[in-house]
Amino acid sequence: MPVLFLIIAALGAAFALPIQADERRAKVNYMLHCQGCHTPDGSGLSERGVPSLKNFMGKFLKVEGGREFLIQVPGAAQSTLNSEQLAEMTNWMLTSFDPQSVQDGFQRYSAQEVQRLRQYKLVKVTETRANLLNHINNKNRLQEHQ
Ligand code: HEC
Repeated sequence: MPVLFLIIAALGAAFALPIQADERRAKVNYMLHCQGCHTPDGSGLSERGVPSLKNFMGKFLKVEGGREFLIQVPGAAQSTLNSEQLAEMTNWMLTSFDPQSVQDGFQRYSAQEVQRLRQYKLVKVTETRANLLNHINNKNRLQEHQ
């Protein structure tokens, strides 16, 4: 029994390490590239027109085009982060700022997906965002009536 325990403990340590390192890297990248506008806890700066990601970000994933938008929005797509870092950081943001998305079993972004999505340059950012918010609101309203 103790041997089995040791093996499990060793395996746990081996797997835990890279995950922790990725999280730390995601956090540091967020601090360096995004936090100035989005603030440490993702609540944004409404007076500067920076929307809150807190308890909201994951709602984009539930409407058509929203998954793409989270990557194509200029602050993300045009950052100097490579696609692997951006994927990792977006997954971390969803997990930390909007835990509901984890409960909803959101599908993590891969580097390949991010690479593909960010090649498309979003021109009508405000309009696209407004449309998505409409869809999100409609969806919430429908759910309330169910
Ligand atoms: C100069 C300020 C600024 C920086 C820096 C910035 N953003 Fe943003 N972000 C915004 C604004 C403003 C919006 C609202 C959409 C728009 O007008 O671009 C936004 C929207 C978003 C959204 C969509 C959420 C929504 O409700 O529209 C995501 C996701 C996002 N940003 C991610 C990032 C990431 C990731 C970084 C860092 C790599 C980053 N942003 C850096 C200002 C910024």
